[in-house]
Amino acid sequence: MLTIVALISGSGSNLRALLEACDNPLYPAKIRAVGADRPAEGLEHAELFGVSTFVLEPGKFSSKDQWADLLLHSIQYHKPDLVVLAGFMRILPPQVVRALAGKIINIHPSLLPAFPGAHAVRDALAAGATVTGATIHLVDEGVDTGPVIRQQEISLPPGITEPELHELIKAVEKKQLVEVIREIGEGKLKLSEVGK
Ligand code: GRF
Repeated sequence: MLTIVALISGSGSNLRALLEACDNPLYPAKIRAVGADRPAEGLEHAELFGVSTFVLEPGKFSSKDQWADLLLHSIQYHKPDLVVLAGFMRILPPQVVRALAGKIINIHPSLLPAFPGAHAVRDALAAGATVTGATIHLVDEGVDTGPVIRQQEISLPPGITEPELHELIKAVEKKQLVEVIREIGEGKLKLSEVGK
């Protein structure tokens, strides 16, 4: 059984999809804990599924390093096989990435390397892109730069608004996330072989 710690910042709709998948005894993964960098709305999903939560707000620590150390400790306490950034809107500190190297995945609402960063949906629309997408990638110390695990293209319907496009992308992200984690749990997808 693949054990997971998920980190979120927002509404947690991707987290919700994963919690629902993990609720099926035939699904090969379990979420051990959900952490957030703010009192995120999405934590309610974890509570509903009886999954423990932790909130570590960087602004409440005297230094970024202190926050990073406690974040790492809180993740490692649950001994996860995998850490899933499911809408965690903060750059993971380098010491956390190094300590968990090869075990952290992120979901991103664009076809990386196009449109990295926090406003990928808005940036794709502003650039007049006709195609965007959803990406799952391994996390390295850069911003959305790690090796791609899975991508799916999405055509932009003319006149679509940013919230509409984001919803369209999230629908794809959820399926992709549940599928990729299933494959990792079943041993069909080996993160150690991604990007090689
Ligand atoms: C997703 O689109 C994800 O790609 C991005 O943040 C969004 C999170 O949405 N990093 P939700 O909180 O899962 O609804």
